[in-house]
Amino acid sequence: MLEISAVGSSDTLFDVGCGDGRILIAAVKDFGAKKAVGFEMRDDLYRQAVQEVSRQGLEDRISIINNDVFTGNLSEATVITLYLTTTGNEKLKPKLAEGARQWTRIVSHDLSKAGVRQRRRLSTATQSACTPSQTLNFNNEACPSSKQSSQNSPP
Ligand SMILES: C[S@@+](CC[C@H](N)C(=O)[O-])C[C@H]1O[C@@H](n2cnc3c(N)ncnc32)[C@H](O)[C@@H]1O
Repeated sequence: MLEISAVGSSDTLFDVGCGDGRILIAAVKDFGAKKAVGFEMRDDLYRQAVQEVSRQGLEDRISIINNDVFTGNLSEATVITLYLTTTGNEKLKPKLAEGARQWTRIVSHDLSKAGVRQRRRLSTATQSACTPSQTLNFNNEACPSSKQSSQNSPP
């Protein structure tokens, strides 16, 4: 997910349901993200993630919020990673569409976002055999005419 969304030093990555924090840690350590923010509603996983972030001395670049992502503000994100259930993904679509900035890269395991053009898809053929398919979308991406497209393209 971090590779296909091309996370780099200008990015603020949000992992929506961050589990033990591994995506957040990889984003800042391996991909050089400026900042990473996670939401995790399970107390045990939240504590585990915070502990690992602290152990690795990354508290200045990683914040983890022990709450439901639906309570959160996503407007700072330049990249959002998702690995939720199908139902969770469906419920989150309006929040992503309204709460994330335009052109935020949204990368997911197994999320098809209706109304948003899919830019890139990695299938199991190009991933290890046990990796689910992943998709990368740009938030609020319409399907503009070619004229609009040149004025309205991802940064
Ligand atoms: C499959 S795990 C993915 C963890 C991590 N993103 C990763 O890829 O390693 C999904 C996590 O999302 C959390 N989660 C599910 N719905 C959530 C919500 N509405 N708000 C916050 N966390 C949520 C779950 O508790 C779980 O830890």
